[in-house]
Amino acid sequence: MTEPNGGPAVWQGGTVWLTGLPSAGKTTLALGLAERLRADGHRVQVLDGDELRAALSAELGFSKEDRDTNVRRVGYVAGLLAAHGVTVLAPVIAPYAVSRAAVRDLHAARGVPYLEVHVATSVETCADRDVKGLYAKQAAGDLRGLTGVDDPYEAPVDPDLRLATEELTVEESIQRLRALLTERGLS
Ligand SMILES: Nc1ncnc2c1ncn2[C@@H]1O[C@H](COP(=O)(O)OP(=O)(O)OP(=O)(O)O)[C@@H](O)[C@H]1O
Ligand SMILES: [Mg+2]
Repeated sequence: MTEPNGGPAVWQGGTVWLTGLPSAGKTTLALGLAERLRADGHRVQVLDGDELRAALSAELGFSKEDRDTNVRRVGYVAGLLAAHGVTVLAPVIAPYAVSRAAVRDLHAARGVPYLEVHVATSVETCADRDVKGLYAKQAAGDLRGLTGVDDPYEAPVDPDLRLATEELTVEESIQRLRALLTERGLS
């Protein structure tokens, strides 16, 4: 943090992408983290998967190509905001490694920090949580192409942080996220 001319604190912007299966806990952790960061004076923008799809990608479906396009769009917006000092939290499934790599590369090209967090929750636990009822719909045969069940999820091989939510409370995960941001000079 710097305080130019004794003015308000200015934080380094950056993007924290939370990838994981549906119901893994991405939104829960992003909103909890956002609250803490705002309390510390950060400018924070949460780019939630569902919201961004509705706003920017309403014409897209859930094919591999459309999912990739959606992730790249969110990544582009994240990069713009982060370059202007905003801490961007992106709780977005982003199932394909190639799409996530494209977002990482875009940030690198702009010299903007990018952190990938794997919200690592087993498909069994996600199906139990089933916040949106998608796992039940899939099981009933009313939905096809559910990430992690009958559609691919390529788990990050080397994320900046992996959160095993079955072993951590929400609070503990948020603390680990904050520690990561501090370690990388973003908090
Ligand atoms: N340790 C934990 N960490 C995170 N979430 C947890 C944990 N234990 C229970 N939960 C619950 O799991 C649910 C996760 O839902 P959430 O909407 O955050 O998932 P999501 O990953 O954003 O899913 P989607 O991709 O469908 O948007 C919440 O109801 C949350 O309270
Ligand atoms: Mg969510």
